[in-house]
Amino acid sequence: MHNTAIKHLSLNYIYLPFEVKKENLSIAIRGLKGLEIKGMNITIPYKEDVIQFLDYLEEEAELIGAVNTIKLERGSLKGYNTDGNGFIESLRIDAHEDVRGKNIIIFGAGGAARAIAIKLIVAGAERIIIANRTIERGVKLVEYINSKLSHQNSKFLKAISLKDRLLIQYIREADILINTTPVGMKNNLEPLFPYDYLSDRHMVCDIVYRPLKTRLLQEASIRGARILNGLGMLIYQGNLSFKIWTGYEMPIEIVRKILIEELEKRNSEVRSQKSE
Ligand code: ATR
Repeated sequence: MHNTAIKHLSLNYIYLPFEVKKENLSIAIRGLKGLEIKGMNITIPYKEDVIQFLDYLEEEAELIGAVNTIKLERGSLKGYNTDGNGFIESLRIDAHEDVRGKNIIIFGAGGAARAIAIKLIVAGAERIIIANRTIERGVKLVEYINSKLSHQNSKFLKAISLKDRLLIQYIREADILINTTPVGMKNNLEPLFPYDYLSDRHMVCDIVYRPLKTRLLQEASIRGARILNGLGMLIYQGNLSFKIWTGYEMPIEIVRKILIEELEKRNSEVRSQKSE
């Protein structure tokens, strides 16, 4: 994704993956200064651990408490988080959906749910329900968000269990449903809720992009709901990081095309491995 954009824009950069052992995280991050590397993405499981090695954080990374992008700025390391914004951009650009005043359910209470929920509140969502398998984790997320935001923008923030009878009512009333759990990545996992409660009033999002059309999205689409997969979030979070480092926008449609080709290639490799 990044190297395609770099090539297209004829920039003098290269984007490389490094696998870093936990005990080496501090020196790996400090290495950016020594080598004058422009910036870095941080991915699971270091998005929180990395903060202690940075000089300062941009406001959104501070609120979310996690960093996915680092930039070397005048010799100092600044941490950013583009995950939540990437999702909102995908909703706005790909699905033409504005979250202001909307009634939203987020499934899951992990790191992705935290970034998305905070961004949705900042962007003016009306009501956010965190529906999680383990209610305690959902409650903890709500407590965390309340401690970070006076959430003057969001009138209602609540955690419920997937087994709570109120979930059905919340689904009926929701405008947007967002799945941040990995349920769509496997075929044999129990659905988060009965799909028959979905209808054409809903916008249904799955942040998974492998497969591009999860069971949740298929079932939502059959029932007339609008759907959004995780490819846009992947692209726009990448684009926001790219802009932070280089000042340039990625050629979004070119990047989207090569990502889809790559994902299809990998899927057919998996299919042929299975049939061997
Ligand atoms: P991330 O940081 O990428 O969001 P995570 O921290 O592992 O990932 O969070 C995964 C979320 O998916 C959790 O909310 C998890 O629910 P629990 O808190 O109950 O563990 C949820 N999840 C994972 N597998 C699930 C499943 N089979 N059904 C329902 N929820 C699931």
